[in-house]
Amino acid sequence: MSVETTAVEGIEPGGVYLPRPPLSEEEVRAAVQSAITRRGGAAADPVEMREALIPILSEVNQTLGYLPPEAFVEVGRQLRMPVSQLFSVASFYQMLSTKPRGRHIIQFCESAPCHVVGGRQVWTALQEALKLGPGETSSDGKWTLQTTSCIGICAVGPVLVVDADIYGNVTPAQVTEILAKYQ
Ligand code: FES
Repeated sequence: MSVETTAVEGIEPGGVYLPRPPLSEEEVRAAVQSAITRRGGAAADPVEMREALIPILSEVNQTLGYLPPEAFVEVGRQLRMPVSQLFSVASFYQMLSTKPRGRHIIQFCESAPCHVVGGRQVWTALQEALKLGPGETSSDGKWTLQTTSCIGICAVGPVLVVDADIYGNVTPAQVTEILAKYQ
């Protein structure tokens, strides 16, 4: 069996955690404040802060599990940016979510090179094991199943990413074993 694991840029080891909604105002404000302060604070150069917008939203997303409307309002207030602009940025990036997601995010590569080496069968096995379709979150809040386009390691396809762990050369028979690693 060949399972490879490595870190994924932009996602902290340990994955994404979901505090149970509803989130309090304090939780949201603290998450935004922490992400902005880590990058110099709202008093930093506005251009630099806007360049840091994706990492800021990404960190808030990771801390809260998703980006609730209150987070956009708070980020907009602190960075003096319109909420509509923040929302459209967040909608563009699959790693950012405006809806609550599971504790573990599964991303399955649906691009052709992975597809032709058995990806379709692995994808079917995944959906059956989780009883989820693409974009769905399990009712117990444990899993969110997503597809992704090529992540650049086609040589080890089919490829599956769980939180920050990348699995290559995945077979349908390995799906249950991989899922069992996550609580
Ligand atoms: S096609 Fe799946 S990683 Fe490239």
